[in-house]
Amino acid sequence: MVRHGLVLALAVVAFVSVLLTAAEESVFQRAPYLVMTAHPETEITLRWRLTAAETSVARWGTTTTYTTGQATVPEMTSDHTCTLTLRGLLAGTQYFYAISAGNEVKTGSFRTSPSTAADSLVFYGIGDPQVAPCDDRFFPDVCGFMLQDVLKLPAERQTFCVVTGDWMLPSACISYALNYVNAYSTPRPHLPAPDSPERVDLWWDEWFTRAAGLPAALPFVGCVGNHDADQGEPETMLAFPRNWPFPYVGGAYWSFSWGPAHFVVVDEYSPLESGTEQRRWLEAELRASRTAPWTIIVLHNAPVAPPRALGQTEPDRSSLYADGIIGPLAVEYGVDLVLAGNSHCHSLWRLPEPHGTGVPVLVMAGAASYELVRNILCRPAYYRFSIAGASMRIEAELFDALGQSVEKVETLEIGQR
Ligand SMILES: [Fe+2]
Repeated sequence: MVRHGLVLALAVVAFVSVLLTAAEESVFQRAPYLVMTAHPETEITLRWRLTAAETSVARWGTTTTYTTGQATVPEMTSDHTCTLTLRGLLAGTQYFYAISAGNEVKTGSFRTSPSTAADSLVFYGIGDPQVAPCDDRFFPDVCGFMLQDVLKLPAERQTFCVVTGDWMLPSACISYALNYVNAYSTPRPHLPAPDSPERVDLWWDEWFTRAAGLPAALPFVGCVGNHDADQGEPETMLAFPRNWPFPYVGGAYWSFSWGPAHFVVVDEYSPLESGTEQRRWLEAELRASRTAPWTIIVLHNAPVAPPRALGQTEPDRSSLYADGIIGPLAVEYGVDLVLAGNSHCHSLWRLPEPHGTGVPVLVMAGAASYELVRNILCRPAYYRFSIAGASMRIEAELFDALGQSVEKVETLEIGQR
């Protein structure tokens, strides 16, 4: 608890100041968080959720006087969710925002993407947060340390964080969660029906609480994992796009560009075979992206043949597509980097190709997992990616069993292909 306090006090004060008359009476069931749009250079979406029907007032600007714009936002859904997309923003600019509801004000900031002519970019990444009430010790630590890292150099580092799936694990210890629902951070007087998407939304409220203010300052972007999509939990699959309304092209696949990099987010839980809509989209994306300095595929299962982790001798994936489809496409179209998760263990691979050094595949460690996977100790981590012209440096900060930062384990340099 102390370590949480130290980390979060520093982080939250800088980005999310909260004025409360009484914390237990907060009108915000979910604090404002950022959602990337299809035009991150000029737009961003803010979402928040209230405990009752209230009208919110949003103000934003390039300073904390918030003089650029103001909007009155009514509650938009029966669950008191509010959404506001800010448009007409300046590229490559830091903005500050304040959302008022009841007697409370919540503040945050974000930075729009630079023009496409930019040749540098810093962004962050985490694998499998897999937040569950009985097994989420590290998610607040990882988010808190990442936010501290952003604050060291916000002009460069306040961009976005890529998540490679399994954002939460609602099926884990569900009876625990329901038994202790009143111990959640936010009071919930009325519980939706069990197994309903609305029930999963409560988990999302808790997810955001535990994300330690980071989503108010750094948009999370990424793909769905098996636990978000296909583990026999239809309520989870329905809740994901509602809580993360990315500019999906179909299913949960979409793409975005930020400065010199184009990110292609694959949904391995929607059809990908030849002739399917996602396959046509994916090949068109990769073809068009050949002109982008950097092309990065984001997906849950790494397209590398087993063993996938040191000492691992069996495949460990729930995707039929990773090896047979994604791997060959990444090689064919000269993808610069594939970002994956799922194994919860940090590892770097290269997809063999006829010429060249191979397509690098980074499997990111689970952001909330400290566990033995086939006798390998896999520690939670976050990653920082720094593009400078034709090279990229990847640094990982790993954590010990107490959630303390232990080391920057590896500095990997990869070149533009
Ligand atoms: Fe996972």
